[in-house]
Amino acid sequence: MKIVTSIQQMREFRKKLNGSVGFIPTMGYLHEGHISLVKLAKTQDDYVVVSVFVNPKQFQPHEDFAAYPRDTQRDLQLLKDAGVDAVFLPNADEIYPENYETYISVENLSEKLEGKSRPGHFKGVATIVTKFLNIIQPDHAYFGQKDAQQVVVMKKMVLDLQMPIQIIVGETIREKDGLALSSRNVYLSEKERKEAVVLFQSLQLAKRLIDKGENDSGKIKNAVKDLIDTTSGLIDYISVSDPKTLDEVQIIENNVLISLAVSFGKTRLIDNIVV
Ligand code: PAJ
Repeated sequence: MKIVTSIQQMREFRKKLNGSVGFIPTMGYLHEGHISLVKLAKTQDDYVVVSVFVNPKQFQPHEDFAAYPRDTQRDLQLLKDAGVDAVFLPNADEIYPENYETYISVENLSEKLEGKSRPGHFKGVATIVTKFLNIIQPDHAYFGQKDAQQVVVMKKMVLDLQMPIQIIVGETIREKDGLALSSRNVYLSEKERKEAVVLFQSLQLAKRLIDKGENDSGKIKNAVKDLIDTTSGLIDYISVSDPKTLDEVQIIENNVLISLAVSFGKTRLIDNIVV
């Protein structure tokens, strides 16, 4: 497995590859969710490239950029075991030199859901992913459904900018009790970890209600809220939206994206399902 830290080296490595390239951007502290995307890429592409970079531009000043968990040696071992061809570990100073001033912004979609709570977040994501796509020039870029809005924003960006890249989505990988894997789960105390399963449970409750014929999203949101309120979790939002436009849906007639963000102590968790 090749470990690349400079942009020039990455471009040179890419040029030599003869076959399709799959790319998976990550912020490291890898888990089975990330590795599932590697496995998916290995079924579709001749070469798999993974980036590990905690992108400062997608964190708000008060967020957990400095505290974001990091363990590069462990990440490298996991990626090697998974059969990755190259890991891109860029240097923040090279990615964002002092006079840096160019950003990518997917306007409307970035303002909704996560964007409302985390202004500027998707601008940071779109900017770093565009940089990586320019440097690595993959055929396919892989993203997890765990971050549903990120997928929608990335697809729109690639479409609007006519990037010759296909976005491929991997399913959400969960713990046995249903909690979606996340690098941030390590922040949870034992009590919070037990309670955090309520995100998954409330999404399942919403699905059961819809399957039974409930089509009033207000009632579904109330049921979800009531269940989450039995824990110490603080609800940021509960949303029933159109999976493509992310506009809120009042009466459910087609597929909907049910998504939520809940904080346990200082740890903010998100999860979603499409019903
Ligand atoms: P990160 O949170 O490290 O996630 C990297 C990729 O792994 C994303 O596509 C995310 O959706 C996926 N992923 C995370 N948890 C998952 C799970 N439980 N099941 C399936 N996939 C999962 O998302 C980012 O980093 C950043 O925003 C990034 C795209 C790298 C830009 O900095």
